[in-house]
Amino acid sequence: MVEVFSCSPDETELFGEKLGAVLNGGEVVAYFGGLGMGKTRFTAGLARGMGINADVSSPTFALVHEYGGAIPLCHFDMYRINTFEDLCTTGFFDYLDNGCVLAVEWSENIENALPEEKLIKIEFSRGENDDDRVLKMSGESVYENSWG
Ligand SMILES: Nc1ncnc2c1ncn2[C@@H]1O[C@H](COP(=O)(O)OP(=O)(O)O)[C@@H](O)[C@H]1O
Ligand SMILES: [Mg+2]
Repeated sequence: MVEVFSCSPDETELFGEKLGAVLNGGEVVAYFGGLGMGKTRFTAGLARGMGINADVSSPTFALVHEYGGAIPLCHFDMYRINTFEDLCTTGFFDYLDNGCVLAVEWSENIENALPEEKLIKIEFSRGENDDDRVLKMSGESVYENSWG
């Protein structure tokens, strides 16, 4: 487990960018932590680190946004996903193992469906000041070292 502190949205994006740069495809980046923690901002950085030039926005209504690139990025919002049937309709299982990177907001809601292989968990929480965030990552060392 590696823990970092961010005191601005830009800094959070930078941690995303660093992680994005070491992804090879097939990873599931599972975010935990409530509304406004910076999961979407982090994903914008993740895309940039993967060499994807796109405006990353919250997939709240579409449930998934797909960004093309050398390695495609699929960005999910599982906030309203309550059942296994719901999860199937997002296409989550179709995207697994097809070589893209999955970034999953509200992974709390689908925790049992997360794979064991190539799983990167990131837990977001608040710090002392309004703009402070604490990010805790656990995954293979190559991913954890990207923040080192
Ligand atoms: N250190 C920080 N990291 C990320 N976002 C921050 C930070 N400090 C303040 N913010 C603000 O918090 C909000 C995070 O929004 P967003 O990334 O959409 O969160 P989430 O996807 O977790 O709901 C943005 O308005 C952003 O400007
Ligand atoms: Mg979000």
